[in-house]
Amino acid sequence: METLFTETEIQQAVSKVARTLNADYQDQHVLVIGVATGAIVFLSDLMRQLQMPVHLELVRAKSYRGTAVRPGELNIDLWGLTEDDIRGRQVLLVDDIFDTGRTVEALSKRLLQHGARDVKTVVFLEKPDRRETEMLPDYVGLRIPDRFVVGYGLDYDGRMRNLPYIAAMDEEESS
Ligand code: IMP
Ligand code: MG
Repeated sequence: METLFTETEIQQAVSKVARTLNADYQDQHVLVIGVATGAIVFLSDLMRQLQMPVHLELVRAKSYRGTAVRPGELNIDLWGLTEDDIRGRQVLLVDDIFDTGRTVEALSKRLLQHGARDVKTVVFLEKPDRRETEMLPDYVGLRIPDRFVVGYGLDYDGRMRNLPYIAAMDEEESS
């Protein structure tokens, strides 16, 4: 494994995203929706630097890819979040990574269907070379090449989410 970003580099990138969000949203009320499981580490760092009034909710997305590079069928669970919670709200959807973009795109559409006034997306990592969607993430922490990464919430087959740094796995390790 090769370390791509150290803890210090990660915190600098989180702070930069937070500063941009604070400037863009000022004192507007925001509904922050994190995508479990992977986003919770980034989310917990990010939200403590947000200065606008926020509500926090979590939804769950699983793409059943296991260890495969190709994403499988996407399963979204709103985890009890109702249309009443979403309707008319200014939403910030927070995820760990924008890979093909299908997860973030599907969730954004779902939130808009449920009446959100506006949905902006915040991802810690983006792999621009892998994108399969029309949409682009609105806020990005760090852009990375097309490599499989772990740590800071991101897993390999359920493991290594707890690494405080982000590492890229070798081809043979992740295939
Ligand atoms: P999507 O392809 O953008 O829909 O991403 C789906 C999900 O795949 C992400 O939320 C991550 O959980 C996972 N994923 C994508 N790329 C990586 C990676 O490099 N490491 C770990 N998980 C990843
Ligand atoms: Mg995920």
